[in-house]
Amino acid sequence: MTSPLPIVRTPAALRAQVRAWQLAGKRVAFVPTMGALHAGHLALVGKGLEQADVVAASIFVNPKQFGPGEDLDRYPRDEAGDAAKLAGAGCSLLYAPDVATMYPPGFASFVRVSGLPDLLCGRVRPGHFDGVATVVAKLLSAAGADVAVFGEKDWQQLAIIRRMAADLDIATRIIGCAIVRDADGLALSSRNAYLSADERARALALPRALVATRDAILAGMPVAAALAAGERRIKAAGFVRLDYLELVDGESLHSLGVAQPGARLMGAGVIGTTRLIDNIAL
Ligand code: PAF
Repeated sequence: MTSPLPIVRTPAALRAQVRAWQLAGKRVAFVPTMGALHAGHLALVGKGLEQADVVAASIFVNPKQFGPGEDLDRYPRDEAGDAAKLAGAGCSLLYAPDVATMYPPGFASFVRVSGLPDLLCGRVRPGHFDGVATVVAKLLSAAGADVAVFGEKDWQQLAIIRRMAADLDIATRIIGCAIVRDADGLALSSRNAYLSADERARALALPRALVATRDAILAGMPVAAALAAGERRIKAAGFVRLDYLELVDGESLHSLGVAQPGARLMGAGVIGTTRLIDNIAL
């Protein structure tokens, strides 16, 4: 079957196409993904098109960011379907390397941002953000795009990528894209595909607790009491684990005991066997 958009599979081929566009005077946006694309990913492409003339996306299920026992093997994969969605959203190129291309024998480098990866999700996913930083550093350096777009649902990931890009003088500008939600408020995620209908209904407790906690804090309830009420709400919905419900500074991700400008409410927990994350601005 012919692909609805050109696919390249090596960093050199990606770089050559991006460079050719840039030499022709075009600004290029890059959208890294792990595939299993939904409307949230397509919004990243849309954001890229607002910022640049052409968009290239990548699909690579990065083994280095999955811990032992996580869902690397069952992570949904559908390259042909994803390519069609990307083409429909206005993307012009797909970079889809295989694992041996990204991590050939002898590969021995890791990118580790210190501090930020130890907080929030990092407490229960040790090493996860080192894998993310490593693959994103490789992808950004291979593409050499003008801007790169990442979703705000992974707020901690975005903060880490911004820190890394600044620290490593990566010239690509990092842009965040607002969370896309289903009509009932559940943030879109490739992992929502794992949820049964019953789990899907109960998962709504997470975004609803975020909203209720935010409203309570804005109405003057002490942060600790508002968070405790939010936690009770999530647990009552049958989450088997609540990893955190925290008010943090949006940049440093440090926990806040009182509301302040730039604060972000962050939540993560497990419903059934599926781990979900979400966040909202205060
Ligand atoms: O957010 C994701 O899909 C991944 O973590 C990313 C940024 C593509 C790196 O593998």
